[in-house]
Amino acid sequence: MAHVVTDNCSRCRFTDCVAHCPVSCFHGDDERLYIDPEGCIDCGACIDACPVHAIHDVLDLPEEMEPWIAINASRSAELPVVRARQAPLPTAAARRAELGF
Ligand code: F3S
Repeated sequence: MAHVVTDNCSRCRFTDCVAHCPVSCFHGDDERLYIDPEGCIDCGACIDACPVHAIHDVLDLPEEMEPWIAINASRSAELPVVRARQAPLPTAAARRAELGF
C-alpha cells in the first residue's frame, strides 16, 4: 500500500512533506503534490509534517477520499519529482485558515 496526498493540498502546496520523505516519492504540478505509490515505503514521516493534514495512509483513508489513490498514481507518473521545499502558494495561508488548521 502507500500514502496519498488528498484535496487539502490544493491551494496550499506547503511542501514540508518533501523534506521528510526518505525516498523522494513526491511529484508535483503548480497546484499540489502527489505521492508515487511505487516509491512510497509507508514510513509515514510525511503525515505529521503537513500543516493541513492532506496526507493519509490508504489504509485509513475515508471512503470519500478514495479517488485520490488513482489520482496520486496517475499524476505522479507524469510529473517531475519535487526534492526540496519550495515556497507555499500565495493562497496557502488563507486556505489553511479556511480548513481550520
Ligand atoms: Fe501539500 Fe501538505 Fe505537502 S499541503 S505539499 S501535502 S506539506
